[in-house]
Amino acid sequence: MISSLLTTKTAVTLTMDSRLTDISCRGLKEKTNMPESTEGNSWSHAETVQLNGSTEDLPETDSFVQQAMAIIMEEVVKKAGDVSGKVCEWRSPEDLKELLDLELREGGEAPAQTLQRCRDVIRYSVKTNHPHFFNQLYVGVDHYAMVGSFVTDATQPSPYTYEMAPVHCLIEDVVLGKMMEMMGWVEGGDGIFNPGGSMSNMYAMNLARFQRWPDIKEQGLSASPRLVLFTSKDCHYSVAKAAAFLGIGTKNVYVVPADQRGKMIAMELEKQIRTAISEGAVPFMVSATAGTTVLGSFDPLEELADICEQHNLWLHVDACWGGGALVSSKHKHLLKGIHRANSVAWNPHKMLMAGQQCSAFLVRDKTGLLQRCHSASASYLFQTDKFYDISYDTGDKSIQCGRKADVFRFWLMWKALGTRELEHRVDRALEMAKYLAEEIKKRDGFRLLMEPEYANVCFWYIPPSLRNIPDCPEFWQKVQAVAPKVKERMMKQGSMMVGYQSHGDKANFFRMIIISPWVSTADMDFVLDEIHRLGADL
Ligand SMILES: Cc1ncc(COP(=O)(O)O)c(C=O)c1O
Repeated sequence: MISSLLTTKTAVTLTMDSRLTDISCRGLKEKTNMPESTEGNSWSHAETVQLNGSTEDLPETDSFVQQAMAIIMEEVVKKAGDVSGKVCEWRSPEDLKELLDLELREGGEAPAQTLQRCRDVIRYSVKTNHPHFFNQLYVGVDHYAMVGSFVTDATQPSPYTYEMAPVHCLIEDVVLGKMMEMMGWVEGGDGIFNPGGSMSNMYAMNLARFQRWPDIKEQGLSASPRLVLFTSKDCHYSVAKAAAFLGIGTKNVYVVPADQRGKMIAMELEKQIRTAISEGAVPFMVSATAGTTVLGSFDPLEELADICEQHNLWLHVDACWGGGALVSSKHKHLLKGIHRANSVAWNPHKMLMAGQQCSAFLVRDKTGLLQRCHSASASYLFQTDKFYDISYDTGDKSIQCGRKADVFRFWLMWKALGTRELEHRVDRALEMAKYLAEEIKKRDGFRLLMEPEYANVCFWYIPPSLRNIPDCPEFWQKVQAVAPKVKERMMKQGSMMVGYQSHGDKANFFRMIIISPWVSTADMDFVLDEIHRLGADL
């Protein structure tokens, strides 16, 4: 905020502590062009502070915010669709440190300088909304959601209690209800928005354990036997992190083999459950994935649900990425059986472009399990003698205290676009993925890893120098080096961003993620042409 302590307000004089001295010096420097350092000068010894009136100069703040908004409009929003611009302005960490003066100092800076800092940060940030950004499981942010974000950041609600975030508590309830409806939870359930899919997966593990061994909450890990959970080899790494974080242990995450398409093999799950039991361990949960991170595969939920019912295991579905398909009548079959899950993680910031972070953790239980598992009943927040209906004070279901109202931007965007447009976008993205796969099959030097089921298109590029070598370990060793080199070149030239990785026994391949409604088939063609341009000499 812009301080302006030299306004003509009547002073109330107090003896100051050194912390306040620093604040007043910043204001003085801005108004008088003081040198930045306060070391050794008399301004650090100011002795009075004004307490009446605000320390903020509203016209100055107004001008600053308007100019900042204009920069965002010009440099981010308007340039979003400009394919001729770069996706990234790559600089090494050393060069970037040199270019951007990142040091924090005693004195503040003038508004014009602060605005320049915003421009610089935008310039050297990855343009995630550029039509040639295909690197992650999210892309930029929908513009309605972006405005929603601004509103949330400006108003700073914290939806732990209704009194602190009345609208947001109601909105969260509506959005969670609608998501449950889409999953086929006809009787509803419970849930909470939280900072990301990794966190949602952790919630699931904690809740599944608490449901079986509620004493753990008070007595700690000694109240449970050795617990084992199951997930496929293609699951997201947050499952292992959660097991480590919750004291379950990564060795107690049994990794179930997946088939060639990356789907958990139900029979193998059965085998692993039997193994765990024979070891004297207690299986308690299966974490299935709907939309795996690399291949975009969907585990067979109906089969897994049968097994879970048979063995009394909690079925969690990590639909952080694949949940987006639920808005499409054409593609929701991919998650067939999700209505039988005990809990689901779904990130609208991924396929639905609601902006980072926006993740819902949903539970089918309606008995207040989530609340019982996480509540601490802080008496300064969750008073039981409030004047309103405290069932709207939802914050004690969360493991956080303060919580960002991520749900608002998703709701605003959903309101503005309607469910039909969300569906149209998902259908279009998956159609675009199919187009790209067909192009890959037509072109020399490109090999598709597998037919895409979702928006992940995985493929190898084979440069001309390797095209006549037969498939053998040496060939794949050479292919392994191609994607990293092409990636380095695309980053340094800033022409596009596409991810790559090796996977199991598969040598490095490209993983294109198609989400954005702002891309067209011309952009798909561009990616393939560009990979060839960057890698033809390898
Ligand atoms: C399948 C899956 N689950 C969970 C996550 C983690 O989500 P977040 O990045 O919001 O923590 C990811 C991230 O890409 C993912 O692909």
